[in-house]
Amino acid sequence: MNGKHQNGFNLHRLSPELQEQLRPLYARQNGNTNYLGIDEIHQGDALELLPQIEPNSIALSVWSPPYFVGKEYEAHLDFDGWQALLCGVIVRHFPIVKPGGFLAVNIADILVFRDPEMPRIQADVVGRKRSSVTREDVVQAMELHPDYNRYQIAHLLGCSEQTVDRRLNGNNIRGGKSEAQTRVKIVGGLVEKWALDAGFYTYDRRVWVKDAAWENSRWASLSYRAVDEFEYLYIFWKPGITKIDRSRLSADEWKEWGSRGVWSFPSVRSNDDHEAKFPTELPSRTIRLLTDPGDTVLDCFMGSGTTAAAAIRENRHFIGVELDADYVSLARKAVTQQTLRLLESTPDYKIDNKATAN
Ligand SMILES: C[S@@+](CC[C@H](N)C(=O)[O-])C[C@H]1O[C@@H](n2cnc3c(N)ncnc32)[C@H](O)[C@@H]1O
Repeated sequence: MNGKHQNGFNLHRLSPELQEQLRPLYARQNGNTNYLGIDEIHQGDALELLPQIEPNSIALSVWSPPYFVGKEYEAHLDFDGWQALLCGVIVRHFPIVKPGGFLAVNIADILVFRDPEMPRIQADVVGRKRSSVTREDVVQAMELHPDYNRYQIAHLLGCSEQTVDRRLNGNNIRGGKSEAQTRVKIVGGLVEKWALDAGFYTYDRRVWVKDAAWENSRWASLSYRAVDEFEYLYIFWKPGITKIDRSRLSADEWKEWGSRGVWSFPSVRSNDDHEAKFPTELPSRTIRLLTDPGDTVLDCFMGSGTTAAAAIRENRHFIGVELDADYVSLARKAVTQQTLRLLESTPDYKIDNKATAN
């Protein structure tokens, strides 16, 4: 392999480490025309299946990856493994996205995860203090009775031994003394770096304002942190000619969301069949904005099939990749249902069915 891929993908533009990582994948693929089928959901690891997609064939890849928040499907990953997955998936996109096409990554801007290495947050939660005993009271009692232990000091002051401990050490630790602390990590920079290293350029970003997760947020009352109520859509561009067609949306749609940086629509409220679906509005808008009818849209973390159903509804082709067999079945079901819905809404289908029924 000479580094220049048959369809214009130039391996030599990438960093030496990425070249090393990708060389065997694309060497294997050279001359191979047995690509992943379109309008299908494929079961497997995105890292292995993406190199089997036809080079320069994807107008838009839109997906939401595992967020490293302890869901069942990511339980096997540590933070390094999670980064390797996302970086590996992004780098494998560059050869398959069309020149002028897009990669759109929906992700919460912060990751929140348990980190045993993080120092404990010494939260002194004023509203939770039940005893009026102050630190000064404790210190004074200890000076007067240097031979007293913590229990005796507590008895003397008429409070609990934990209160004495808290007043002295301020260690009212969120989540308990033995639990690891909750670490917050901003991920936009990581995602951008991986995309730039792969050869993409940052094109745009939108904010999706979702339902505020009050009920999940103990830290709304135990810290100064904000509740989780928005996510990002980071959009990356592969150099090439990009058609700009303002007729893709109506004038009202351009005004309401096409040209707007903030998109507001509710989260999926019934996650009964999949733990982390995004609302159909998210891939639908992205598809309508960035592609034409007949284009191919990819989602390599397909989950329940939301992107595939949106693509069908918008008259686009799709390729879906999903690791979990149950989710693959769910996504295939979503594809069948959406195809039927579309068929039922076409006048010819209605006429034919009437004729069959008669
Ligand atoms: C955030 S969910 C996507 C949900 C999807 N947008 C929906 O609306 O249903 C991430 C999905 O990625 C899948 N996944 C995790 N690791 C994967 C991998 N290495 N390759 C392919 N899919 C993977 C998970 O099983 C999960 O369904």
